[in-house]
Amino acid sequence: MTLENIKLDVDFVRSQFPAFKDPLSKDWSFFENAGGSYVPQNVINKLTEFMVSTKVQPYAEYPMSKIAGNNMDKATKTFANMINAKENEIIIGGSTSINLYVLSNALKKFINPGDEIIVTNQDHEANISPWRKLEKIGAKIVEWKFNTKSHELEISELKKLLNRKSKILAVTHCSNIVGSINNLKLISDIAHENNVIVIGDGVSYAPHGFPDVKELDVDFYTFSLYKTYGPHLALLYGKEEILKNLPNQNHEFLEGKYPYTINPGGPNHEELVSLIGIYEYFDNLYNHHYKNENLSIVNKLKKINDLISKHEEFIANPILDYLSNRDDIFLIGQKNIINKNRAPTISFISRKKSSKVVSEILVNNKIATRNDNFYAWRCLKHLGIDTEDGVVRLSMTHYNNSVDTSNVINALKKI
Ligand SMILES: Cc1ncc(COP(=O)(O)O)c(C=O)c1O
Repeated sequence: MTLENIKLDVDFVRSQFPAFKDPLSKDWSFFENAGGSYVPQNVINKLTEFMVSTKVQPYAEYPMSKIAGNNMDKATKTFANMINAKENEIIIGGSTSINLYVLSNALKKFINPGDEIIVTNQDHEANISPWRKLEKIGAKIVEWKFNTKSHELEISELKKLLNRKSKILAVTHCSNIVGSINNLKLISDIAHENNVIVIGDGVSYAPHGFPDVKELDVDFYTFSLYKTYGPHLALLYGKEEILKNLPNQNHEFLEGKYPYTINPGGPNHEELVSLIGIYEYFDNLYNHHYKNENLSIVNKLKKINDLISKHEEFIANPILDYLSNRDDIFLIGQKNIINKNRAPTISFISRKKSSKVVSEILVNNKIATRNDNFYAWRCLKHLGIDTEDGVVRLSMTHYNNSVDTSNVINALKKI
């Protein structure tokens, strides 16, 4: 087999996740990954190790405490390396929602009455509400609306909204409903020409490939670690030159000590350390597929991301084909995945049955899914969809396999 022909070994992948052997979950096809993913054994091991031997206050000189502190630092450093950031550009907080609220409070400093903040109606509310609330300090909120036919955020529309009063643009890298991957690099370039700070929400993007934040050139980027095979924490990246100028949101004595200034309370220690397990899992994945290649973490991840994308294309396209060819289904977003144009996050409504009934039928057929607005209610409203009943969302990730694909298509045929 040549290197180019290497395919993701999904059996190996699944062997790393205990949920596929657990009596409660093993018989289910899991399609709720955009809600939260399963965790590999490495993450569970790190969490357990911390709880057994080092669950003490970190950073003292006795061994249990010293090791606890070292591992906490290692986790942050590892994740910084994984996304091509510096260690002091990484904030690990409780959730993306919390991280963005803290950030929005800090960025108030740069907003004068009449300044404009651009938000989209494709985003999850976590990257909308904190910015909309700055209206209270005199900011004007401008909405970048997606096209109701293509469901895409169009760059031409963004260009019309930008002007010399624009200060912040909050935009998703990938919508948790539409699934399309927005060209964040191009968006950042255009925004920067207008001196606008870009906040990218990578929550629905990162599970399908950790980003290279320097390549994207965003000013801030966030994702939730519980959707990238880890515990309930979230990462916020910020460019050092901006972070160091943000007003302190933490204890007074920490003034100037960025990035802690944007991390009041700090993260849960044991969960932070378990993040090392995410890295170990991806490293195992790399070593399983590509032996003896000496690459940086970022470059290893890029190779793994390519394998993952091809696999996701393979498992998601038959579902997209099935749904897009039915007159009684309204499929949101692009009709197939080609070259990372979209994530395997598939949302739809039936024209004949409520989303609640459809999701019940799927669940009765051992498809783990749900109906909801998934906090992207502005997106649903713009499409004229009932935000209470919501959409049915089938969200896959690289550990889903072709059995899951057949199972969901067979279940969909029963609707
Ligand atoms: C696209 C997107 N952004 C933000 C969030 C909020 O993340 P958190 O639950 O970590 O606050 C979610 C959660 O589902 C999401 O899907």
